[in-house]
Amino acid sequence: MSETPEAAVASLAVVLGSHFMAETAIHQKSFLSSRVAHFTESVIREMTRQAMLHGAVNLSQGFPDFPAPAEVKLAAQEAIAADVNQYAITWGAKNLRNAIARQMQMWQGIQVDPEREITVCCGSTETMISALLAACNAGDEVVIFEPFYENYGPDAILSGAKPRFVKLRPSATPDGEWTFDERELRAQFHPHTKAIIVNTPNNPTGKVFTRGELELIRDLCVEFNVLAITDEIYEHILYDGTHHISMAALDGMRERTITINGLSKTYSVTGWRVGWAVAPPAITDAIRKVHDFLTVGAPAPLQQAGAAALALPASYYQGLAEGYRRRRDRLIPVLEEVGFRCFRPRGAYYVMTDITAFGFESDLEFTKYLVKEVGVAAVPGSSFYRNARDGARQVRFAFCKRDETLDAAAERLRKLQIRK
Ligand SMILES: Cc1ncc(COP(=O)(O)O)c(C=O)c1O
Repeated sequence: MSETPEAAVASLAVVLGSHFMAETAIHQKSFLSSRVAHFTESVIREMTRQAMLHGAVNLSQGFPDFPAPAEVKLAAQEAIAADVNQYAITWGAKNLRNAIARQMQMWQGIQVDPEREITVCCGSTETMISALLAACNAGDEVVIFEPFYENYGPDAILSGAKPRFVKLRPSATPDGEWTFDERELRAQFHPHTKAIIVNTPNNPTGKVFTRGELELIRDLCVEFNVLAITDEIYEHILYDGTHHISMAALDGMRERTITINGLSKTYSVTGWRVGWAVAPPAITDAIRKVHDFLTVGAPAPLQQAGAAALALPASYYQGLAEGYRRRRDRLIPVLEEVGFRCFRPRGAYYVMTDITAFGFESDLEFTKYLVKEVGVAAVPGSSFYRNARDGARQVRFAFCKRDETLDAAAERLRKLQIRK
């Protein structure tokens, strides 16, 4: 049956209409993923670039400016000379995994199967995103304490999850210990909560979570069937007699914890990019798949050096913590002398400060002035919070630096004027 002229016109209009819509869609198509629009570039890394631009002393990004242990560097050189230059096993060189398992047993009393429960990745940064991609579905929620290490929010978003935040607040005591409110934490746990990220010792606050606090988190994880993803990369950097407790060591948590750690901070090799996850076999399987397709494997010769690093004697770790305690106690009095209120860190190598006394509009304005006019780079507090205003009176300094660097910073900081 032939088409009437009206019907022909109508179907032509439909064809042209859909063609027009397709054309419009083609022209309006963005080359950018909307996921990426939900977060900004790292402010910490930007501050390092600013420090280089202005010739400032860099107390922003957390990397040491002193040498790594000689025996660890030698192990890397020997591995390259011995042609350990091809892909390592995707989930990590066997001797490194064995060394990690040995350490977990020695330091935390946790028994780990290196064949089924460890994945070596490119730094704990890749480990965290691999863990979240392995665990999360769209619509899941991930609880994050704030102030938080900058990567966690974007990591959660990239994995399709929604971050939910719980405040750490400094107490009014002179040292300003950071604590959280139990009711606020409970209020963030829901049926859709998939995981909580716990970073202890903590960046940026220097908080070391106590056994009581971890048990409280544990009880919520068990009640709501939630996974704990713990970032323990400052495990050996502790002060004032504090102890690091791994969440996986608590009763009921071994089967629901992904423990993340790495070489960067403990052995002063942040540029090597070697980290790892320890998790029960089924979770490890999922993390290994994500890691395989993201990066294939971590740098092979540096994994050999990692195995050598993890064999260093206990005295190495005592020296590491003592060295950082000395640096902390070198920088904090200077900061206090010139007008900062310091929240005394109990672990990791940062000090969060309150800048109210300087009378600046915001942390951003203050850090801009500091890097350009004073010649010291620090990180604006707002980059550690979801709402910039929550960090507008805070600035973080890293003290993982040589005495000369800290002294050069001190000399410049003494030029700071408190605005009355
Ligand atoms: C809490 C925390 N996690 C992870 C990282 C990055 O570690 P990695 O070098 O192993 O990727 C940092 C670096 O500053 C950090 O502070």
